[in-house]
Amino acid sequence: SAAEKGGYDYFMLKEIAEQPKAVADTLLGRIDASGVLSLDEVRIPPAVLREVDKVVIVACGTAYHAGMIAKYAIEHWTRIPCETELASEFRYRDPILDRHTLVIAISQSGETMDTLMALRHAREQGAKVLAICNTNGSTIPRESDAVLYTHAGPEVAVASTKAFLTQLVACYLVALYVAQVRGTKWGDEIRAVVRELAAIGTQVEQVLGTMEPVRELARSLADKNTVLFLGRHVSYPVALEGALKLKELAYMHAEGFAAGELKHGPIALIEDDLPVVVVVPSPRGRSVLHDKIVSNIQEIRARGARTIVIAEEGDEAVVPYADHLVRIPRTPVLLQPLVSTVPLQVFACELATARGNEVDQPRNLAKSVTVE
Ligand code: AGP
Repeated sequence: SAAEKGGYDYFMLKEIAEQPKAVADTLLGRIDASGVLSLDEVRIPPAVLREVDKVVIVACGTAYHAGMIAKYAIEHWTRIPCETELASEFRYRDPILDRHTLVIAISQSGETMDTLMALRHAREQGAKVLAICNTNGSTIPRESDAVLYTHAGPEVAVASTKAFLTQLVACYLVALYVAQVRGTKWGDEIRAVVRELAAIGTQVEQVLGTMEPVRELARSLADKNTVLFLGRHVSYPVALEGALKLKELAYMHAEGFAAGELKHGPIALIEDDLPVVVVVPSPRGRSVLHDKIVSNIQEIRARGARTIVIAEEGDEAVVPYADHLVRIPRTPVLLQPLVSTVPLQVFACELATARGNEVDQPRNLAKSVTVE
């Protein structure tokens, strides 16, 4: 009913709008006033966390994209090797796991069969499993050694939005907590990141307030057949997520690429007026990387692409090559996906509406996939 949708036309729009609160709720009580993380609820003793020598993340779809981003954060802050794998592939390749492996299973519903089978396999091999889940008492947390709940509230739309942002928050919390427990040479950076993470809801709110041009752009692309997405570093999984949203909702051919891979093949796809969304990583921290993506934008534009550039405020280097420029607030480099994903959600939702598609219930899809 209209009341359930809180005055919005679709649950997806309501859930996109709820994101500032959802991320704040997921952070609530987990960072104290002095910036120390308290995740006692996770119930994996610090002694066990100190012994972990490998992290493996398993998940599907959007949750898998959150896991891909988590890998950058976990390896950087904790220096523990981390791999992220599609749950549906994981157990079939005979993965190497033992009691020093921490497996993180990410799932909004907690009922995804592929993810459940992956975690069962991991536990059989003696690994410890931590679930990141949005649904209290669902099967995945029940079968895990520990759980960190995301507090996104119920997500009704098939296309995941607020669950994704809160999965990211939970992953950052886990990474920062493990770093805190083990001690790390990034102490100052971590303290600064924790402070900014604690206030990230405000930045998500800011992005939501500037989305009208994105909606207008989406409507103008309603008769296109293809949209490509490029990203690099943490913005590469964001590009994949932007493409997945567009496939699910707009039924368009959409594909995400790592920008560095362009020259290894995908650049052949570029043709006149092809919309290409480029999610530009922060120019701070990794300026070489930033220069490279700016030249990628230049290259595709020279070949006719219509460039839709999502870039941080103050990033002036992209301006000459952006046919459409979407600004996002500055965040610590690794946290950028919390703000850069939002315009992609709005873009896909609006394009789907413009094409006359059913936003909350896309064809052929179920909210939770309980078969393998
Ligand atoms: C996201 O928009 C999708 N509908 C889908 O990829 C989803 O993220 C995936 O099926 C995993 O679901 P889960 O988080 O409930 O395990």
